[in-house]
Amino acid sequence: MTGAMKTAQSEVSPDSEQIRDSDLAHLLHPWAPIERARDEPLIFRSGRGITLTDIDGNEYLDAASGLINVNLGYGRDDLVAAAAEAIQQLSYGTLFYGRGSVPAARLASKLAEITPAGLNRFFFTVGGSDANDTVIKLVRHYNLLRGRPEKQHIIGRRQSYHGMTIGGWSLTGDEGLWKDFGERLPGFSHIDQPADAADAALLEEEILRIGPERVAAFVGEPISMPARINIPPDGYWQRIRAICDEYDVLLSIDEVITGFGRTGRMFAVEHWGVRPDFIQLSKGITSGYLPLGAVGVTDEVIDFIAAGGRLSHGFTSGGHVASCSVALATMEIMEREDLVERSAVAGAYLLRRLEELVERHDLFIRARGLGLLAAIDLDAGVDAEVRTRLAEGVLRRGVLVRPYDDRGTMGFAPSLVVTEAEVDEIVSRVDAAADAAA
Ligand SMILES: Cc1ncc(COP(=O)(O)O)c(C=O)c1O
Repeated sequence: MTGAMKTAQSEVSPDSEQIRDSDLAHLLHPWAPIERARDEPLIFRSGRGITLTDIDGNEYLDAASGLINVNLGYGRDDLVAAAAEAIQQLSYGTLFYGRGSVPAARLASKLAEITPAGLNRFFFTVGGSDANDTVIKLVRHYNLLRGRPEKQHIIGRRQSYHGMTIGGWSLTGDEGLWKDFGERLPGFSHIDQPADAADAALLEEEILRIGPERVAAFVGEPISMPARINIPPDGYWQRIRAICDEYDVLLSIDEVITGFGRTGRMFAVEHWGVRPDFIQLSKGITSGYLPLGAVGVTDEVIDFIAAGGRLSHGFTSGGHVASCSVALATMEIMEREDLVERSAVAGAYLLRRLEELVERHDLFIRARGLGLLAAIDLDAGVDAEVRTRLAEGVLRRGVLVRPYDDRGTMGFAPSLVVTEAEVDEIVSRVDAAADAAA
């Protein structure tokens, strides 16, 4: 946050220095250096719509919806009320031992209605990483029950992200994230991201290299964030599905980022008409208001694993009543406000505005997007100093984007309720930062 410009001053809270001290001395932040300079923590106190206010009273337009999860925007009373009412009724209700809760049952039924055909059973987790771990365990369980103990290998993709638990991390295809923590779980390998539809053949090659009798599943996000929002060419996912079918390999689609309207469809796989065997969900499921994840499983898989009797897997807070209630309210709001369609329309507008930036500035080389998941790339020739100036300038002008380490790409994923005027404001601030950086 070095040198941040105050974009709007409200009251600087009297306790802001104390909060900064506490953060610096006692908080370990994910994906951040352990020791940070005094002016670095960017600590937020409140949020409304797409605007966040920090403890010094500066306002920021959140063009990344938190971690691409606050899909309905900050500060919605209807979502707060859904959480409060749920825990007033029943503060906690386990789903273990076949017990249940009203919101969990209703949400599972709602998910069966809105997810791709065939996914009719849902397992609730706390977030996206444990949803991925759940898929890994269910895939193993399935093949053990089918009498194929050697069929356990899972293929993922490079430049993918499936979470930071030991399973999700082993599946994640990013060497930069592996190096600090020693050995990953055995039984995973990774293929390259697609540049064109024919790259689905990489999966077939990898299945044949490992041996089809050993390959249990392929897991991928419809669009990978670490691959700089790589929107796959049409035909890629359809071919992946066909290859999985040919070699009796389960297909698990991680819609943790792309689910719930983010790409202009309820789920991104709908763009390509692909029916997965598993789906991983989280983030937008509660609009980020409370932690929740889910794994959807097809009837075919259930038919096999039902024979195993008890499912010996679960998390104390998976499917918490308050989270499920907020998720149900999120679905209701999305339907009432037609937010999937709004995401498609606002996304097309955002992309048009980003393309104008590419036209106007030599710094930028291309823009791409699907619904409200978009990116703009810097020309490879732009030197590191200018990239840094641009990234800092965008932040100083009060815009939060999805950053990339080399600052060669900026990701945009504003909330699905973003207005055209807010898109214009975000783009004009990036425009000004680009002018200043060049
Ligand atoms: C595609 C995908 N899968 C899994 C995860 C992990 O989710 P969580 O951070 O909730 O554990 C993420 C998080 O960003 C994600 O983007």
